[in-house]
Amino acid sequence: MQIAIDGPASAGKSTVAKIIAHKLNFTYIDTGAMYRASTWIARENNINYGDEKGILAAIDHEQIEFKFKNGQQKIYAGNKDITQEIRTPDISANVSQVSALAGIREKMVSLQRHMAGEMNVVMDGRDIGTTVLPHAAVKIFLVASVHSRAERRMKDFKERGIKTSQSLAEIEHDIAERDYKDSHRQLSPLKKAEDATEIDTTSMTIDQVVETILSEIKKSQ
Ligand code: C5P
Repeated sequence: MQIAIDGPASAGKSTVAKIIAHKLNFTYIDTGAMYRASTWIARENNINYGDEKGILAAIDHEQIEFKFKNGQQKIYAGNKDITQEIRTPDISANVSQVSALAGIREKMVSLQRHMAGEMNVVMDGRDIGTTVLPHAAVKIFLVASVHSRAERRMKDFKERGIKTSQSLAEIEHDIAERDYKDSHRQLSPLKKAEDATEIDTTSMTIDQVVETILSEIKKSQ
């Protein structure tokens, strides 16, 4: 079974996707982490963020992999655990440029489909319902106001111990800019699939969002 959860930056996708995957005993796949890891690899190797060939060669060399450690999902580039490092504002600021490259998308989408073909998944991203898994049993599109998403991101930074000098207004600006780039790129832009259920999480608790999605899953069975 495939469950697709898409939506703009910091709409709460990964938080609820993880809970739902845990409740259903499915595997959670964070596709944003794969594009972030590609961006991290480019930065580490001093490769220009627009250099598709260079980044692809570096990814082939380092390999992006999900691994489980102490019950937590971690993302690796080669032997290095980069789970935390891919969440920094610098990676967030550049990931949209890397994720717009055709060759990078092709590679990531093929890895994502491969994983979804092997197990039951809850997959979150921007193009899961429209492109990666167009036949997913359940498609959810999560939205929330930019202000509430910026507040969540700020809280998330604190919880992860990521130090940032950014103000709430600056975070809001960054989120809006990333959404703009992700929705206006040529390939698989951020867009609600026609058959997706839209949920506005602005004034909902995490539990309420989870319950709403679980009831959509029940309806589909
Ligand atoms: O979900 P997250 O904010 O970690 O995603 C980081 C970036 O990766 C997005 O802003 C977008 O550029 C890219 N992305 C994508 N397609 C996906 C998931 C993420 O292009 N399915």
